[in-house]
This record gives sequence, structure tokens and C-alpha cells, in this order.
Amino acid sequence: MRRAKISIIGAGNVGSTCAHWAAAKELGDIVLLDIPERAGVAKGKALDLACCGPIEEFDAKVIGTSDYADTAGSDVVVVTAGIPRKPGMSRDDLIATNVKIVKEVAEKVAQHSPNAIMIVVSNPLDAMVYTAWKASKFSTNRILGQAGCLDVARFRTFLALEIGCSVEDIQALLLGGHGDDMVPLARFTSVHGIPVDMLLTAERIEACTQRAKVGGGEIVQLMGTSAYFAPASGTIQMVEAIVKDKKRILPCAAYCEDAFGVAPGAKGAGYFIGVPCILGAGGMERVVDIKFNPAEKALFDESVQHVKDLVAVVQKTFPELT
Ligand code: NAI
Ligand code: 2OP
Repeated sequence: MRRAKISIIGAGNVGSTCAHWAAAKELGDIVLLDIPERAGVAKGKALDLACCGPIEEFDAKVIGTSDYADTAGSDVVVVTAGIPRKPGMSRDDLIATNVKIVKEVAEKVAQHSPNAIMIVVSNPLDAMVYTAWKASKFSTNRILGQAGCLDVARFRTFLALEIGCSVEDIQALLLGGHGDDMVPLARFTSVHGIPVDMLLTAERIEACTQRAKVGGGEIVQLMGTSAYFAPASGTIQMVEAIVKDKKRILPCAAYCEDAFGVAPGAKGAGYFIGVPCILGAGGMERVVDIKFNPAEKALFDESVQHVKDLVAVVQKTFPELT
């Protein structure tokens, strides 16, 4: 049987760490692509990673390149191309630079891997998935954004630290856009089946919620650039669900045009919003819709409005993406 082909666009911190996790999990052959000026970096990192194979015991071809021909026929393409934020910047401040990069990348991906499933990571995430969708013209099941897997992992980590239990025993749900107004939902959070509010006070849960919301910013402040271990881990969790057809329910930025009450925009297009969905060989196979209470709905709607405002900026920059 042929191994899956996974191409990763952008060989920076997130991209190369995605390659690392994907190789370690032996998910397929990997192509790491960057711009021509950074072809050496892509090739060097790929070669270095390939040489871990004998030690870590994975069989995977890992190549670096700046030529999209090498990515041809990919099953999954992960887009990490673009600038990350620096201290004092919000994810939204990246939009002017990254919309151009992601548009160009998505067009090339569509040209060389027309049947791929594309996972966008570049920020501001929800607007970049929309950009990649419009630029690639991919069907909505084949285009997704990674944010929820990361954000929920942060929420689970902070809850486990607070409770003093294993992270593995925390189940949590987090929805909305990948901004500081993302929506962790305590009502759907449990610890080995025990509702979290039986183990923590409302104040402690709220403290974990707040820390998860600004967890990305906390790391930017500490190290001067954005996180990459957990973002890459979350991305590869999605890739694994797809290449192994696991039908996992994971929180992803997925296309919504009526699910969760997300109404389409003026031109009839829906939005990519963080919602739970089933991931398998068909990509985003189904959004798992749930009913909110009024307070949750208000938080979710606020987050969705933020995503809509960002998409409006994309549409203003490139009217052809409307
Ligand atoms: P980085 O600066 O380390 O790497 C970005 C790479 O993209 C660089 O190697 C750069 O040369 C490359 N690149 C730029 N234009 C390109 C193009 N046209 N084609 C191919 N490659 C191109 O940045 P890092 O830390 O890897 O972050 C990448 C993106 O991911 C940023 O936008 C960041 O904000 C975002 N991010 C998103 C997260 C999420 O959860 N969705 C989490 C962490 C980062
Ligand atoms: C993060 O949340 C910057 O989106 C990136 O770490």
C-alpha cells in the first residue's frame, strides 16, 4: 500500500515541528517547502529529520524543497507559511501580510495537489482558512483550520495542573474563533466523566478559561515569537485522524453556513469557525452541532462576529475572494 504524502508549506517553527511529529508518528512521506530564499533551510531541516529515522524507528521519506512540483499529488497539505506575531501584536495584526502569502500558497497547492485535504495554520487562522478556501476553490470538506486542537489542549493542561491529575483524564470542548474571544465551555468539560464544577470552584475554572484564551500571548511574551510545539502537535492530531480515517471528533475551524446558527454573509458564503467535527479520510466529514444555552450562545456569537470582521478585511483586500 502506498504511504500517505504529507506536504508542509512553510519550514519555520510550526512547519518543521509538524514534520517532526508526523515523521515520529510514521504518518507518511513528508515534503517540507519554503520560499526559494529559504530552500536551504527546508532541505537542511528535512535531511536532519530524515536522519532521526534509524534512532526513532520510523520509515518515511523526508525532503525539503522550494519547488511545488515536489508536492504534487499530496494527500494532505498543511499551510504554515506566513509571519508569526511578536510581543505586543495580536493575531489580527498579521492579516495584511499573511493574506497575500496564504492566497498564493493555496493557489499553488490547488494546482499541484487538486485532491488534497488542506489544513491551514497561518494566522489570523479563521480568516486564513477562508482565504485558502476561496483561493483553492476546494470543496468545503477538504479545507480546515487548526486552532481548536491547540486551544483545547491548553485548556486541558491548565485544568489538570489546577486539579493535580493527568491531562489524559480531562475532556473539554472549546469553540469559536482562534482569538482571545474563543469560547471554552465549562458545561461540556469533565474529568474522567466527573463534571469539572464538582472538582473546581467557578473562580478556578474561570482562571483556567482565561489562561487558555490568552495562552498564545503568554508564550509570545516569554519567548518573543509564537508557540510551535503544541500548535504542531494539534495539527498532526488532525493529520493523523485523516490519514488513518479515524473519524475522530476534534475541534477544527470548519465550514459553517447553518450549523451552530452561523448565517452566511451577504454573498451567500459561510464562515470557517471552530466547531467539533468528525475527521476521516474524507477530510471534514461532519460538523457535530450542539445546542447552546443563552449565555454560551452570546459568547459564541461574539466570537463569530470577530471572524466575520476579519473575513471582511480579506474581502476588501482581494475582492475576488468574496
Ligand atoms: P516562522 O516565521 O517560524 O515560519 C514561517 C515560514 O513561512 C518561514 O520559514 C517563511 O519563510 C515561510 N514562508 C513565508 N512566505 C511563504 C510562502 N509564500 N511560501 C512558503 N513559505 C513561506 O513562523 P511560525 O512560528 O512557524 O508560524 C507560522 C504561522 O503559523 C504564523 O502565521 C503563526 O501566527 C501561525 N500560528 C498559528 C497557530 C494556530 O494555532 N493556528 C499557532 C502558532 C502559529
Ligand atoms: C497561538 O495561539 C500564535 O496562534 C498562535 O500560539
